Amino acid sequence: MSKKTGSKPRAVSSEWVRRGRSKIHGGGLYARKLIPAGTRVIEYVGERITKAEAARREEYRLAQRGAGHDGCVYVFELNRRHDIDGAVSWNTARLINHSCEGNCEPEIIRGRIWIIALCDIPAGDEITYDYGFDFSEWQKHPCRCGSRKCVGYIVIRGQRWRVRKALRTKR
Ligand SMILES: C[S@@+](CC[C@H](N)C(=O)[O-])C[C@H]1O[C@@H](n2cnc3c(N)ncnc32)[C@H](O)[C@@H]1O
Ligand SMILES: [Zn+2]
Repeated sequence: MSKKTGSKPRAVSSEWVRRGRSKIHGGGLYARKLIPAGTRVIEYVGERITKAEAARREEYRLAQRGAGHDGCVYVFELNRRHDIDGAVSWNTARLINHSCEGNCEPEIIRGRIWIIALCDIPAGDEITYDYGFDFSEWQKHPCRCGSRKCVGYIVIRGQRWRVRKALRTKR
């Protein structure tokens, strides 16, 4: 867990993961050793913000992206009133990329966000989960996860059929 050193907390570490370059996007996290299914792999930490503040930051992010910057999404839904903005240097889990066939899932346990292994994850595999983005914004988030189940856009699993349908209609 992060500890305070001066004003900036130390980066969250986990015995289960290491950082590395990702084929999906930028940096990623990789299994250091076999991770058994059900393991709490790492905690997703950050700044607790209101929904209004999250909306303001999303607007800023989109403007940045419109201006040619990467515009990564780090805001994570915590509950009906608050989100966690994980865009802080000590949030190691911010490096986890989305996959349409993720090997982990986020779970909120007593107000904290944990990344949990969905299956046994072999050493060296990239840690991924379903970002769970809503279909309404599908075209904003192209997906490069490369999995067999990839629909080409980052959309929550239960709504991917709508992406497939929209793509068929476009053709
Ligand atoms: C929380 S960051 C993930 C870490 C990121 N790779 C980095 O180096 O900072 C989220 C951003 O990574 C990118 N990303 C994550 N998964 C992706 C995917 N499957 N396909 C394309 N881009 C992805 C998107 O830009 C997204 O907004
Ligand atoms: Zn994908």
